[in-house]
Amino acid sequence: MTHIRVKDSIRRLHEDYVKRGEEDGKLIRLDRNENAFGHSKNVERALRHTSGALSSYPELYADSLLHKLADIHRISEQNIVAGNGSFELITAISQSYLNPEDEVIIPTPTFDWYKTASLLAHGHIIEVPVENHRISPDKILQAVTAKTKIIWLCNPNNPTGTVLSESELHRFLEKLSPEILLVLDEAYIDFIRETEPVNSIHIVRTHPNVILLRTFSKVYGLASLRIGYAIGNAAVIEGIRNFKTPVSVNYLAIKAAVASLDDEAFRRSVVRQTAKQLDYLYKEFNQLGLSYIRSNTNFLTVCVGRDSDYVVNELKKRKILVRGGKDFGYPEWLRITVGKEEENQLVVTYLKGILS
Ligand SMILES: Cc1ncc(COP(=O)(O)O)c(C=O)c1O
Repeated sequence: MTHIRVKDSIRRLHEDYVKRGEEDGKLIRLDRNENAFGHSKNVERALRHTSGALSSYPELYADSLLHKLADIHRISEQNIVAGNGSFELITAISQSYLNPEDEVIIPTPTFDWYKTASLLAHGHIIEVPVENHRISPDKILQAVTAKTKIIWLCNPNNPTGTVLSESELHRFLEKLSPEILLVLDEAYIDFIRETEPVNSIHIVRTHPNVILLRTFSKVYGLASLRIGYAIGNAAVIEGIRNFKTPVSVNYLAIKAAVASLDDEAFRRSVVRQTAKQLDYLYKEFNQLGLSYIRSNTNFLTVCVGRDSDYVVNELKKRKILVRGGKDFGYPEWLRITVGKEEENQLVVTYLKGILS
């Protein structure tokens, strides 16, 4: 028994996350956009020999990873900060850059941690609904005021799977004040199929008010190790580093991330297999007469034409977890992570039964 109570605002904000984390490990989890195809064999090799390193603190700033990333992206290490996944970096950006009552523009629906992190930093949230499932750069610009401090853009967007092209981003930035921070969360960038690849590194080089977020949780399949990074102007990145928890990126995560970057064949194979499975789902959903949003991610958002809670529960009885759209304002939709071939076949078979 204790009289010490956590602040109400913190308790409420976290309830939803706790609820979602409670599920049984034996279920097929197609609700968290994890990588169904595992991770690179390089990672296992790299983690086999820890040679006493676990009793030491890891590199202060994940230096060996920064070194490798700087080389790959042809930028300076000062332009990169590694974090304990994008979750940590999103929180750090909000805490480093938001003053109380600063306005934050968030398209909706999108990844919900932007809102939580901004609220924790006492930002004032302005939500801008997507149009025809796509983030509308014009609508966002219309929402900008003298108080706007951060715009969060998830590109490709979770949960709609849509993407803004590089030229759309350039046009948007031409009209955006350089005093407003634009955070481009590119968790799913490797899976873009509906536009040309987006060269966002070029965007960062030419726009000091842009931050990119990348994670090793998706295409590299390292979600459990918690590692991601942000790229931006050196002074902006320094601001994030100042808030971030010291040494929040552990030794195994750094090793695994570096090893993943050395295995381009694995990355490509994940992209290829994901595309193949998406095509399978498109074909089956077409036959079932279900509409869906063409995806640039490793998940597919599909309209089941009835209460999504019902369908989620029916699938759960059959040991498959998917994300119901009610949480994000799409009450008749499901967001289904692309699984292995046999998992996707099961989803299709069960949906046929449930929806008939
Ligand atoms: C758009 C987006 N950003 C960030 C994350 C979380 O990334 P990380 O695992 O690096 O914290 C997710 C997780 O699903 C996501 O969908």
